[in-house]
Amino acid sequence: MKYIVIGATGYIGSYLFEHLKKDGYDVIGTSRKCRNTDEIIYYDIQKNDIRTIISDIHDKNITAIICIAETNIDRCYEYYKQAYDINVRKTKKLIHELSREGIHSIFFSSDNVFDGERGNYTEESPTHAVNQYGKMKEEMEQYLLANELNSCVLRISKTVSLKEEKQNIFTEWANQVKSGTNRCIRGNIISFTYMDDIYQACLLASQKQLHGLYNIVADRAYSRAELAGKFYDELGVQVHIQECELGDFPFKDTRPLNIGMSNGKFKRETGYQFVDMDSVIQMYISNLKSNKIGE
Ligand SMILES: NC(=O)c1ccc[n+]([C@@H]2O[C@H](COP(=O)([O-])OP(=O)(O)OC[C@H]3O[C@@H](n4cnc5c(N)ncnc54)[C@H](OP(=O)(O)O)[C@@H]3O)[C@@H](O)[C@H]2O)c1
Repeated sequence: MKYIVIGATGYIGSYLFEHLKKDGYDVIGTSRKCRNTDEIIYYDIQKNDIRTIISDIHDKNITAIICIAETNIDRCYEYYKQAYDINVRKTKKLIHELSREGIHSIFFSSDNVFDGERGNYTEESPTHAVNQYGKMKEEMEQYLLANELNSCVLRISKTVSLKEEKQNIFTEWANQVKSGTNRCIRGNIISFTYMDDIYQACLLASQKQLHGLYNIVADRAYSRAELAGKFYDELGVQVHIQECELGDFPFKDTRPLNIGMSNGKFKRETGYQFVDMDSVIQMYISNLKSNKIGE
């Protein structure tokens, strides 16, 4: 099975690309960051045509995992036209071109398609995004489910990895140890999910040629304060967790609060077991400690 990771240098894309390679899959990636190599092909979703890349691939038994997006919620609001072009217009076109070639696409949606009033959302729950980023994801979900019937929409939530990296909230929390304070949004309940679960879900979606919508999240949701508390307990440090109102943060666009999701459909159809957050925190902290010893 051949994979193409479209956007192989972002937070999730780079993990998927590296692990597909490590696990021996035939994989190529695209990026705007590097020159063409055997493994990575230059591709800007706003300027280039994917057909020029896939025309060179003869075996079309491929899964394309689309990791390109403007993912910053406030940038989606501030630079709306640019973000809409990337997140909606060009992504629709990309998936359409891929499906015309018979290529199976996996698209990542987000918990931000919900208004956060209720939580524990399933694939059947009505969506009602409150920020522009969420509205773009909502439009993509509706479009793909109505028009690209072979594509697979994996709706994901805040993804945590074992690496020290900017987008990993565990890294942000570890960096806050120095200041002794962690400010977080009161009532923001999220289905934090382990990066490797996203990878395993992509493999299963590809192997089983899944199509339609799946929530890909860990079994239980946590408030930011509760999970941060677990994190600092495991790290063995005292950090003051200060829950503040959403309005106390200088966001440009709003945030939904209770966006926990249910993973029942994916578990029922695949039998997959998600990794719990206690184990992910333990693995992250054990890595962190061994990296510090190695320095
Ligand atoms: N991370 C999460 O917790 C999370 C949660 C919910 C949903 N998601 C969804 O999962 C997907 C991946 O997210 P992520 O966190 O990995 O995002 P990310 O780290 O922000 O990566 C976004 C990727 O998009 C690429 N990109 C942006 N504009 C582009 C353009 N015009 N042409 C080509 N590439 C472009 C970036 O390329 P450069 O590296 O060249 O800038 C980067 O590789 C997104 O659809 C996101 O909405 C993520």
